[in-house]
Amino acid sequence: MKHNPFNALTAAALAAAMTLSSFPASEAAIADAADTEDVVFATDFEDGDASKFSKRGDNDTSIIEVIEDDKAPSGSKVMSISGRDQSWNGPSLSVEGLLEPNVKYVLSVKVKAAWYNTVCVSLQHTPGGSDEPQYTNLVKGVSQGDYVTLETSFSYGDAEKDVSIYIETNGEANDLCVDDFKITLAPNKLDKTLTGLKDVYGDMFKFGTATTVGEIAPASTKELVKHHFNSLTAGNELKPDSVLDKAACLALAAEGNDTDPQVTLANAKPILDFARDNNISVRGHVLVWHQQTPLWFFKEDYDENGEWVSKEKMLKRMENYIKNVFAAVKEEYPDVDFYAWDVVNEALTDGGTPREAGFPAESNRWEASPWVKIFGDNSFIKPAFEYAKQYAPEGTKLYYNDFNEYMDKKDAIVKLAEEINSDGHYIDGIGMQSHLNVTNNGENTPFPTAGMYKAALEKFSKTGLDIQITELDATVNDQKYELQAQYYSDIFDAIVAYKDYVSAVVVWGTTDDQSWRADRDPLLFNKDYEAKPAYFSIVDGITPSTATTTTATTTSKTTTSTTTATETTTASSATSSATTSATTSGKQEEPLYGDANLDKKVSVADAVAILQSLANKDKFELQPQGRINADCFDVGDGITANDALAIQKLDAGEIKGLPHYSATPNK
Ligand code: GLA
Repeated sequence: MKHNPFNALTAAALAAAMTLSSFPASEAAIADAADTEDVVFATDFEDGDASKFSKRGDNDTSIIEVIEDDKAPSGSKVMSISGRDQSWNGPSLSVEGLLEPNVKYVLSVKVKAAWYNTVCVSLQHTPGGSDEPQYTNLVKGVSQGDYVTLETSFSYGDAEKDVSIYIETNGEANDLCVDDFKITLAPNKLDKTLTGLKDVYGDMFKFGTATTVGEIAPASTKELVKHHFNSLTAGNELKPDSVLDKAACLALAAEGNDTDPQVTLANAKPILDFARDNNISVRGHVLVWHQQTPLWFFKEDYDENGEWVSKEKMLKRMENYIKNVFAAVKEEYPDVDFYAWDVVNEALTDGGTPREAGFPAESNRWEASPWVKIFGDNSFIKPAFEYAKQYAPEGTKLYYNDFNEYMDKKDAIVKLAEEINSDGHYIDGIGMQSHLNVTNNGENTPFPTAGMYKAALEKFSKTGLDIQITELDATVNDQKYELQAQYYSDIFDAIVAYKDYVSAVVVWGTTDDQSWRADRDPLLFNKDYEAKPAYFSIVDGITPSTATTTTATTTSKTTTSTTTATETTTASSATSSATTSATTSGKQEEPLYGDANLDKKVSVADAVAILQSLANKDKFELQPQGRINADCFDVGDGITANDALAIQKLDAGEIKGLPHYSATPNK
């Protein structure tokens, strides 16, 4: 259906129409865009006007002007940003009077960096109840002195203040040019005649999803969640860095009490209010984790530059943190069914040992744990569960949650659970994160195989503990959605075989574009809310328990092919738009650049592993993650001898870190 933005009925489109008249972009650009989409705001700078874009605060040294560029992607003019001093300097567009909260938009823009740089579109927003602005990177691409198209969807909630969209770089503050900036309303193709997943699987287990506050802001996403899911996990907002109230902690510490960490549920409010109002159960995630927990929480005087606290003090802080979180949810959300909490997340390495001691935000230490720094080992886990058992509201089950749980680590997880429960019942269940891959670096070989996944289910089921699938997603390259559907179907066959042991299955995200692995479309719904073949493959053959809608499984296969066709078209136009990696939900999947042999360190042994694999790929094959890590010189150009050379240079102290990039003409 074609929409004319001036006739569209939604509030956002009305705002759009006002904007278009108050900020005229070239008529050709608007007419072009308006022909096929709900354009809210568009400019190609041909009218010489960039006044809607401003610098980011008084300390931003950028000079923003419209200039002629013979490489302009359209027309002859572009917005130029020169004189930048910091990578976060750049043009910023306030949404005030332009966009509406609770609406999903698509932004596309062409950006050129003067020389090799990662260019980003980011969102600045201040959550309700807070004065601290947050900065969310929406999409990135690499410019090598050429224009790259960045495309992303985004939204914000009605409680958020001072919302703006800005363009920055990840590396140096070199000059930028911007053209063809366009914001449109995102399409909504949610089909409510399809049976909700929660109804399909209602007899077996809860079917949940995870969302961040930004992701769930659009009314359209809320509709999807309500239709398909009966469990909700906050993607970030119940993690310690969201829940700890630093100002309140410091105030109490000033009175002499620095062992009673103060907490706030303000950041999680939009998610928890939504769950309460729609009677959706909540999985709490997470109390004790080495990541997304601020450094100051582990330091004397809550000062990140201070000394690490003693084990005894940390135990007190841990106890009171857990106690205060449970008290807050009980008091503020007495009617929400917090049926599960992840008490400890990701404490084991793949080898089953404790993590190394340290702080993840330090360079290349994302594996390190401040808990291990203080306790020396994993002895913090048992007290965490003891405290959680002591303070959890009745009916809340407690989980140990981890990734790569389908590999050898499963033995260590079982051993850990048994040790902790050796003198009581503290852990109720095991959380299998289930971040899976249908394809690996272009190969059509899934990892893990459904057989490996089933073996993990078998192992965990023998413990007598409950199992929850807590963060399911399955990445796929090149829009191979039929292959993905087959894999999802195999994984669900395994889960259904163990349904008596599994009480919840939670997918990590709603639509592909909002996933932390958005570049590889890992979810059940696409960016337009259409059910993907994977949806149909997992409902096929299951008789819905409490069917509220009418999709017969026999007809679902027919729909599959229609969906596939649509998706292929959408995807091919998206592919041409840029190298993108959206990271809207906090933690990114960070490679340890250089670590080709996956021994968690970068050494000459990695250079050898790379050279061997180049010489004889079959004999010296690198693992999928090893291949990602190995591409540490000019990331994205594949594995070459230069990657090995970069590691050797690092070892010799000639370069400071990885990844390393080749010299660029203007430097
Ligand atoms: C882990 C965490 C989640 C989330 C994902 C990535 O699996 O447990 O909370 O951060 O990584 O988004």
